[in-house]
Amino acid sequence: MPFGDKARAHPNGIIDLSQGTPVDPTPDFIQKAFRDASNSPGYPFTAGTAELRAAIKNWATQRLGVTGDFDVLPVIGSKELVAWLPTIIEATKVLIPEIAYPTYHVGALLAGAQSIPVAIDATTWPKADLAWLNSPSNPTGRVHSAKEIKACIDWSRNNNSILISDECYLEFDHTAHSLSVLSQTSGDNRNILAVHSLSKRSSMAGYRAAFMIGDSQLIARIREIRKHAGMIVPLPVQKAMTVALSDDAHVAQQRDRYNARKDAMRPALEANGFTVEYSDSGLYLWCTRNEDAWKSVEWMANLGILVTPGSFYGQAGAQHIRVAMTATDDQIAQAVTRLKV
Ligand SMILES: Cc1ncc(COP(=O)(O)O)c(C=O)c1O
Repeated sequence: MPFGDKARAHPNGIIDLSQGTPVDPTPDFIQKAFRDASNSPGYPFTAGTAELRAAIKNWATQRLGVTGDFDVLPVIGSKELVAWLPTIIEATKVLIPEIAYPTYHVGALLAGAQSIPVAIDATTWPKADLAWLNSPSNPTGRVHSAKEIKACIDWSRNNNSILISDECYLEFDHTAHSLSVLSQTSGDNRNILAVHSLSKRSSMAGYRAAFMIGDSQLIARIREIRKHAGMIVPLPVQKAMTVALSDDAHVAQQRDRYNARKDAMRPALEANGFTVEYSDSGLYLWCTRNEDAWKSVEWMANLGILVTPGSFYGQAGAQHIRVAMTATDDQIAQAVTRLKV
């Protein structure tokens, strides 16, 4: 029986910790901004409204510590950007983390480019047109140190190559503090982009709302192509993004929720022989029992808990599982009870 069916067959129902999809409601003030903008007869700007651009720039400066010349561009969720950017910039060789969100590889395939899995240490990276960095990581929750980020920037400068840092989990610090790549450039942002998303930060995954920040010339080039490719963020979404970025209180509340869930789940997994690795920030616990990932998935499915095998993220994850904190507090409490076997 497939493991999803097995978990669903549990007498008390499935607890699905396999998807990184938020379940906590979109804050009311964001929903209101979206509703208030529903009269939207004209085409929105690819570049974003002046208010949205200002809100992103302000957030980038205040929250990320961006300095120097930079520009911003809203996008239709960061998955879309990850999937299509290698095509837009006509990359032929793309470096991706060896344990990674699968869309980095898919984006290279769509561009007809070669994707090359690389280790964290950028001093070992080969030459390429583009490299993805992801901190905090999906699936491992690992956070890059300032030294590691600087090595990635050096790689970009030495090779005149584009470095893109996917920072969609940056707001969810737990036991480590995450830094934006743009806080480490000393104001020279040439060839450097950071990608951010409101899907997790503001529980807006259904809105499809993300943006890039960084090298203004590179962003101008990308914006020009996107204008003609139909990649425009709908106006009501742009309005909702603007208010979401202007508030931090709801983000702190969401961070506390995810961290409390991790604090509850971690000892329950450890009591069953799992070692939790990395998982310093972000949404996931990355664990191993030094057995095949599918064996761990099956064991959890027998308890009605569905998790993701680490092999989905690369060969290096073949003995790990990813446990997502995207279930309600009540479901997480039930999972903890079920793990008391
Ligand atoms: C590392 C990473 N990047 C990008 C995304 C895409 O997020 P979205 O398209 O909702 O902005 C995800 C989603 O789970 C992710 O884990």
